[in-house]
Amino acid sequence: MHSKFIDLLRCPVTGQRLALRGDRWADGRVFGGMLRTECGREYPIVRGIPRFVPGERYADSFGYEWHRWPRAQFESENVGRPMEGHTTRMFERITEVDGEKINGRTIVEFGCGPGRFLDVVRRKGGIAVGVDMSRAVEVARRNFADDENVLIVQGDVLNPPFVRGVFDGGYSIGVLHHTPNPAAGVKALANMIRPGGWMSVCVYTRGKFYDFPSVQRYRQTHLRLKRTFGYGPALAYAWLSAGVISPLLQRMKRFSSLKGRMEALERNWVVSLGLKDRRWRFLDIFDAITPAIASTHEEGELLEWLREAGCGDVRRTAFCATSAMGTVGSAAVLGDLSRMAA
Ligand SMILES: C[S@@+](CC[C@H](N)C(=O)[O-])C[C@H]1O[C@@H](n2cnc3c(N)ncnc32)[C@H](O)[C@@H]1O
Repeated sequence: MHSKFIDLLRCPVTGQRLALRGDRWADGRVFGGMLRTECGREYPIVRGIPRFVPGERYADSFGYEWHRWPRAQFESENVGRPMEGHTTRMFERITEVDGEKINGRTIVEFGCGPGRFLDVVRRKGGIAVGVDMSRAVEVARRNFADDENVLIVQGDVLNPPFVRGVFDGGYSIGVLHHTPNPAAGVKALANMIRPGGWMSVCVYTRGKFYDFPSVQRYRQTHLRLKRTFGYGPALAYAWLSAGVISPLLQRMKRFSSLKGRMEALERNWVVSLGLKDRRWRFLDIFDAITPAIASTHEEGELLEWLREAGCGDVRRTAFCATSAMGTVGSAAVLGDLSRMAA
């Protein structure tokens, strides 16, 4: 962690400032020590990462996932391959934010995983701060080992360890539906962004792939088997589907007489994805069937969460029915102005 980031951090329980104690440095960065509040709460810095949670809790499947596929979805790994440009297009279609609102600004990602979207922010000239609860933070730290404009923090997005209103913008992609309270996650994100800053959120859509009875069934089966067999069965199924079942179903769907039946099979019985790259299919099928928590939501629900968090200019973005953006604080400011005018 570069020392310039210490001023962004706060105790997630009391909101108090944190002082560095027993710090160990290398190449101008803090890699060990303790962050301590005035009232004596302590948070360790381990391998250069400030740690605000004692463990992964319900996010452990992601710790496993991102250690297995640390860079598969980074643009640099996909040059000349079928998914080239996908991560950047996905970021742009979810956030719909101009480059000038990123370039030179400090942007936070809630649930950064290994950091494919932090990488997009960096390439657009932003200073990137990622928080994640799982041991994905170790992977993210390695992915940005030489970049002093990236801060990785292990923390809970429902209880974020930052100064309120310190960021110019922020986003959370594919994360809040894996927490017990996505609405609270939207509010927490809004609280960390300055008034007038931007925020974007994307969650699972009700009735779409992540909500299919087939996906729910495999997820429940995985959670039962995991106690005895760990991730073995989920890996075996994801590998088989990515390599054999998904390509076969895609081919059969080309026949109009079979299309309906194949879609029903996918919806109800077989988890399958049509992504063009086999590695992405393997990763995304594993990702769909292993999380401990996975809720699905509707467009109106997400827009309401943003409004309740005090955002104005709230609207759906191009990526899907449950991707949306808003301007932080503007609803509250407009409310104050109209009350003053009245
Ligand atoms: C599907 S991954 C998405 C990662 C990244 N946003 C991306 O799309 O590449 C979900 C991430 O959310 C993290 N996560 C889940 N619950 C969390 C919480 N309460 N606080 C912080 N991170 C959380 C997981 O550890 C995981 O890395």
